[in-house]
Amino acid sequence: MQRTTPTDEALLIDSQHRALFDQLRRVATVYGRGGAAAATGELAEFDRLIRVHFREEEELLGRLSYPDLDAHRVEHDTFLSELQRDQSDELDPASLAFLRGWLVNHTMGCDRLYDQWLSDRAAKSQQPGGTSSGAGGSAGGATPAQLAATRRLRRA
Ligand SMILES: [Fe+2]
Ligand SMILES: [Fe+2]
Repeated sequence: MQRTTPTDEALLIDSQHRALFDQLRRVATVYGRGGAAAATGELAEFDRLIRVHFREEEELLGRLSYPDLDAHRVEHDTFLSELQRDQSDELDPASLAFLRGWLVNHTMGCDRLYDQWLSDRAAKSQQPGGTSSGAGGSAGGATPAQLAATRRLRRA
């Protein structure tokens, strides 16, 4: 399979994903040492980081007319509701496991789909006769139907 050079945006998103996993590890470490009350500050920082990340990811995908943006946004919003609940209730091991599981599944699932779409788009724009128009337009690689089929395969 041909790999394309990641875009600057994809690199930024990757670094944000790493920061989110690092922060969630901090939450778990502090929770393990001092319990839910001790982890409040680290969980609030995770909340802050992931809201920034979701906003920037959605802005990027909107700028590039990503065909599955609405569904992606729903996934983000649903997670934020869960995260809000975890901050209202007392954090426990099950909540921590949920947060980590969701982050793994989302970054390896939905986020992978748009990452592949970005790579296909960049590869197309570099081909002779390909578009180099930047944001917007119909320069995407996979159609929404292809993306949905890929997602179904990943969930199977
Ligand atoms: Fe996402
Ligand atoms: Fe993401």
